[in-house]
Amino acid sequence: MTTFAHEHWSSRFAFLMAAIGSAVGLGNIWRFPFIAGENGGAAFVIIYMMTTLGIALPILMAEILIGRMGGQSPIGSMVRLARQHKKARLWAVIGWGGTIGAFVVLSYYSVIGGWALKYTTLAVSNAFAGMDGEGSGALFADFTASPLTLFFWHTAFMGINIVIVIGGLHKGIERAVTTLMPLLFLLLLGMVVYAAQTPGFDQALGFLFKADFSKVTAMTFLTAVGQGFFSVSVALGAMMTYGAYLDQSVSIPRSAFIIALADTGVALLAGLAIFPLVFTYALAPGAGPGLVFVTVPIAFGQMDNGVLVGTAFFVLLSVAAITSAISLLEPAVSWAEEKFSGGRRTATLVVGGACWLLGLASVLSFNDWSEFYPLASLGVLDGKTVFDIFDFTVTSWVQPTVGILMALFAGWVLSREDVMAALGVTRAGELWFRLWLFAIRIVCPLAILLVFASAVWPDFV
Ligand code: PFF
Repeated sequence: MTTFAHEHWSSRFAFLMAAIGSAVGLGNIWRFPFIAGENGGAAFVIIYMMTTLGIALPILMAEILIGRMGGQSPIGSMVRLARQHKKARLWAVIGWGGTIGAFVVLSYYSVIGGWALKYTTLAVSNAFAGMDGEGSGALFADFTASPLTLFFWHTAFMGINIVIVIGGLHKGIERAVTTLMPLLFLLLLGMVVYAAQTPGFDQALGFLFKADFSKVTAMTFLTAVGQGFFSVSVALGAMMTYGAYLDQSVSIPRSAFIIALADTGVALLAGLAIFPLVFTYALAPGAGPGLVFVTVPIAFGQMDNGVLVGTAFFVLLSVAAITSAISLLEPAVSWAEEKFSGGRRTATLVVGGACWLLGLASVLSFNDWSEFYPLASLGVLDGKTVFDIFDFTVTSWVQPTVGILMALFAGWVLSREDVMAALGVTRAGELWFRLWLFAIRIVCPLAILLVFASAVWPDFV
C-alpha cells in the first residue's frame, strides 16, 4: 500500500497549540458553562473532572497513539494498522466513523461559529447598550430567524477555516494556532481578572466550587461523559490526525495530560469569566444554550466598559471556535489528499465546500425548517430539527461508539510491546502504563456502554 507523506509538526509547542486549540472551543466557552449551570454547578464540575480524567484522557492517549502509529489520515491509519495486525478491515470503521462524524459536526459547528463572529460585530458597535432580557432575547431571535444572515456568517466562518487549512500544516494550521492560542489565553485571563472585580465573583465561586451533591443523579454522570468527550475532542479522528503528524520524540502521555488539563482549565476559567457577570446583573445561571448569546450580552450592555469587555469575549469565542473547526476539517482533507491526486488545495476546497453545503441544513433549522422534524415520521427523534439530529447523533452515538472501538483497538489489538515502545514507557512509568491499559481495556468501554444503556432505556439509570 502506498503511503502519503504528510508534513510533520515543526515542534512540540506547535502540536500542543493545535491540539489544545482543537480541544478548547465552543464546548468550553459556550456549552460547558450552561451545562454546568443546568446541572447544579459545582457537583457537576467535580464529576466532570473525574470522568474527563478517568475516561476521556485515556482514550485521548489511545487516539493520538493510533494516529502516530498509523501515520496517515484516520481512515488510512486504521486500514493500515488493521492490515499490519492481520485484523479485519472492519476496524477501519473507527476511521470512517470519526471522519464522517467530524465532517457532520463541522457543518453545524460552523453555523454557531458564525454566530460568534456576528456577535463580535454587535459588541464592537455597542449594540447591547441598555438592553434588558427581553431586548436581548429579541435580538437573538431576529438574528437566527433570518436564513440569509445566518447563511452569510456561516459562509464567513467556513471560509476562514478553509483558507487556514489550505495553507497546509506549517503555513496554515501552525501559523494560525501559534498566534491565536496565546491571544485566546490572554483574552480569557483578562476576562477573569475583570470578572474577579465584580460583586458577583464570590457567588460565582460558590456556584462553581461549593458542591451540593443532592442534585446528582446517574444522568449527571452521563452528561459529564458526553461533555468531556466533546470538549477534549476525542473519538472524531481530529486528534488521531494530529497524532499522525507527531514525531516519535514527543511524549504522548505527557501531551495528552497537558491537553486535557488545559481544556478543563479553560472550561473552568470560562465559568469564572461568565458567572460573575451573570450574578452581578442578577441574570439566570441555568439559562441553557442561550446563556452566552442572550444572557451575557445583557451584562455587557449594562457595564461601563461593555464595548471592550464584550468585544474581548466574542473574539475569544470566535478564536476558540476557529481553532477547533480546523481540526474538524483536517481528518477528511488528509484522507482526500491520500486518496486523490488533486493536491491539498483541491482537497480542502471540495471537502470544505461540501461541509459548507451540509451546514445550510443547520442554518435553516433555526428558521424555515424550525418545525421540520425529518425523522418524526419514522417515530424517532421527534421534535428534533436537522441541527438537533446532527448534534445528537454524533455526540450521543458516533462519538461513544468510536471511543469504545478506539479503546479496544489500542488495548487489545495493538501488541503490548509495540504500544509500550511507541509510548516510550520506562520502568518508572510502568505503573501508569498498567493503569492506562486497564482503563482502555475495561473501564472506558464499560463506562461508555453504560452511557448507551441509559440512552436506550432511560429508566436504566
Ligand atoms: N472540542 C471542541 C469544543 O469543545 O468545542 C469540539 C470538537 C473539536 C470536538 C474537534 C471533536 C473534535 F474532534
